[in-house]
Amino acid sequence: MAQLTGPKKINCAVFISGTGSNLKSLIQFSKKKSSPISIELIISDNAKAKGLKFGKIFKISNKVFNYKNKLIAEKKIISEIKNKKIKLICLAGFMKILSKRFIKNFKGTILNIHPSLLPKYKGLNTHQRALLNNEKYSGCTVHFVNSKLDSGKIILQKKVRISKVDTPKSLAKKVLIQEHKLYPKAIRRVFNP
Ligand code: GAR
Repeated sequence: MAQLTGPKKINCAVFISGTGSNLKSLIQFSKKKSSPISIELIISDNAKAKGLKFGKIFKISNKVFNYKNKLIAEKKIISEIKNKKIKLICLAGFMKILSKRFIKNFKGTILNIHPSLLPKYKGLNTHQRALLNNEKYSGCTVHFVNSKLDSGKIILQKKVRISKVDTPKSLAKKVLIQEHKLYPKAIRRVFNP
């Protein structure tokens, strides 16, 4: 990963599929003078993603790609990313799996946030599975993306205590609050190891 040498920020694209609360926190982070990133592009596979509104609010270019044909969608995304000179991709609730080809194209420059303490609970329904297993803790992880799902090198994690009354919904809410802090912290860590 390139080091920051001057005041210029690294162009970043954020990929979303839904609410976009992590996108919002990343945009707010990117506006700080000390932040290493500038968010120049928001990409979604879902035209109804609520998070797309943040593109309008913060005047960041939004692009939606139809994933019926993943190969075509990814080709278009790659050309968009190259046009905008994007050097960092942050997956933030993006629910499509990137192809090996795509990942190879941007090796070492794609980050993801996952709502569990990886390597536990890769994939979907993490909170439900953690509760069913009577875990005392869950949490979130920011990691580099490699060709295996939720398996790339971990950058940072944050633990969250599970209480007896937690439901998947209440746990998701608690974890999300930590995600909003963890993702910016992990990005700082990537650029200032
Ligand atoms: C977040 O909890 C994120 O960790 C999770 O989706 C949620 C998106 O929320 N991501 C995954 O499960 C990826 N496998 P947001 O749209 O409000 O940021």
